Amino acid sequence: MPSDEQFSFDYKWDIVSLKAKLIATSLLVKLMAHGDWDSLSILTNVYTESTFHKPKWDIVKTKVKLIALSKIVMIAKGEWDNLASLTNVYTEKVFNKPKGADRWSNDLYFGLQRVASLNHSLIKLCTEIPDKLPVTDELLGPLLEGLTIEKAIAEKRLFICDLKILDGLPVRENFVLCVPIGLFFLDKTKHLRPVAIQLFQKPGPDNPIFTPLCKSLTWAFVKMWYNNADAAYHQALTHLGLTHLLMEGVTVATHRNLSQSHPIFKLLAPHFLYLIAINSRGLELLISDGGWVDKTMNFGNKGLFALIIRG
Ligand SMILES: [Fe+2]
Repeated sequence: MPSDEQFSFDYKWDIVSLKAKLIATSLLVKLMAHGDWDSLSILTNVYTESTFHKPKWDIVKTKVKLIALSKIVMIAKGEWDNLASLTNVYTEKVFNKPKGADRWSNDLYFGLQRVASLNHSLIKLCTEIPDKLPVTDELLGPLLEGLTIEKAIAEKRLFICDLKILDGLPVRENFVLCVPIGLFFLDKTKHLRPVAIQLFQKPGPDNPIFTPLCKSLTWAFVKMWYNNADAAYHQALTHLGLTHLLMEGVTVATHRNLSQSHPIFKLLAPHFLYLIAINSRGLELLISDGGWVDKTMNFGNKGLFALIIRG
């Protein structure tokens, strides 16, 4: 394990203290359960609140508590009349404020998201500027630390993300899904900075190339549209398609063909935990007609499935 991947002291301490607590409690329970088990029902004496919980009940209790708390927060916080009021819903009781709430409009974090976020494998080294992204030295000059585009490419400091796979997908009525191309520059401090975003594939006067030199709100909106498309790719492919759905087939095939004592079975088994249960639940609530994807994502259920097929 790399040195920066080691468990922290706090994490190890949590595990050790929980382990000590569980050993002590289970010894106590054994003593209180009076030694021998002389009937089957006595077996259940060892299950106490402090040693083993009933997980289903825990989940239901937590869910009810969270729903109640979130309703109270929504009522107490009223309408969202500006972007900042979105963060009102983050309270310690429901969800803590995520770090991204303060970073979302920062270009450095937008750059970082291309390599350390939902879709870290979409980014490619830019070896030539594609015809469909007609950027010029005039446009990017102030953003490349004095380099021309050609020089930046030669120094391997330009990177490109092209979400062309989203082109032409069905979307919900009156909704738009962008199909962006983003250009990123590795600056002297080794930070990846966005230098140009074109929100659709076909260049033209109605499809401008935006840069960080645009008005700040315009640039913020452009990045939001970009990330909205990135999220669509993530939900359909990186997440649902390539983990949940693909792994369902692997789960079934493994159970049908490998012995439970086979080393590969042992390696894969933890990845199968609850997978089919979650997928079955997802089919009912998440990706059904009128389900959550249909209600909350621009491309709805039809777009999601069309993208899964493409991917
Ligand atoms: Fe998931």
